[in-house]
Amino acid sequence: MNIKRGLKATILRMRRFLDEEPSEVPFDNTYPWLGYMFHRLMGEPGCSYKPMYIWGIVQGAALGKILAMDRVSVIEFGVAGGMGLLLLQHIAEFVESNLDIAIDVYGFDTGTGLPKPQDYRDQPNMWFEGQLPMKQEQLQSHLRRASLKLGLVKYTVPAFLEETPAPVAFVSFDLDLYNSTRDALAVFEAQHERLLPRVICYFDDVIGHTYSDYTGERLAISEFNCRHTMRKLSPIYGLRYFVPNRYSREFYWDLFYFAHFFDHPLYNESDSIRKAVFADYQGNTYRRPINSDWRRELLN
Ligand SMILES: C[S@@+](CC[C@H](N)C(=O)[O-])C[C@H]1O[C@@H](n2cnc3c(N)ncnc32)[C@H](O)[C@@H]1O
Repeated sequence: MNIKRGLKATILRMRRFLDEEPSEVPFDNTYPWLGYMFHRLMGEPGCSYKPMYIWGIVQGAALGKILAMDRVSVIEFGVAGGMGLLLLQHIAEFVESNLDIAIDVYGFDTGTGLPKPQDYRDQPNMWFEGQLPMKQEQLQSHLRRASLKLGLVKYTVPAFLEETPAPVAFVSFDLDLYNSTRDALAVFEAQHERLLPRVICYFDDVIGHTYSDYTGERLAISEFNCRHTMRKLSPIYGLRYFVPNRYSREFYWDLFYFAHFFDHPLYNESDSIRKAVFADYQGNTYRRPINSDWRRELLN
């Protein structure tokens, strides 16, 4: 048996070394499935320009699917020229057809570039008024399903929530400024019906440069956490160790957070189809649906 285990470990190491294609994994919303889907989409033309959107949409939509939702929303805060929104739309279409769940796509932007930085918290050393504007007509002509919400997020987010959108599954925050990010985070003050119990988030401006805990997105995040006891934003620590090996050195894994809504009626529902239900004395782990007959199968 020791020989068998040794052989298994060697094969595993060789696989990592050769960085082979992740083999097909049936949908279950575990990391192997997420990694397999991520890898597939990275091979789709165009998608690999925004790998963070691939991971966010796949993981967000998968949770929606597990929770038996037929429709979810994904959001990009900060659209600028629109390449990110077009990719969000493209990736959403791909995931929608693979997971059989409808995905509504929204982009929020002033349309005229950054508002004026108010004080040091908006980091005027990096950002200035009017920076990164949009060519609205040009972008609109390329939007198939994405809907553009133009204006300051301070006003467009409450208006959006009034429209009773499908539960939010993934949000990318790329508004650059502290004040804008603080206003956009109002989306997580919505009623539970408008949110999945955990929403995967991508924060574009939290590492490198002059970002700090006291300015920009990080300050908006910590203030949100101080204001709420049952709604919290937390980094997904060590995500890079759970993704296919060939992508694990990329910077963007450190920019993912979850918005947790601890008092959401669905927060404690199981979030994957198969769980590790049994581990034998040789260290083999068996994954099965929790409502299956795994006790009889594995213990007899
Ligand atoms: C860095 S750009 C977004 C880039 C885009 N995510 C991409 O990947 O191509 C930031 C954008 O946020 C928008 N923005 C910043 N503060 C805003 C606010 N309070 N309301 C609406 N839009 C805002 C600006 O207009 C700017 O175009």
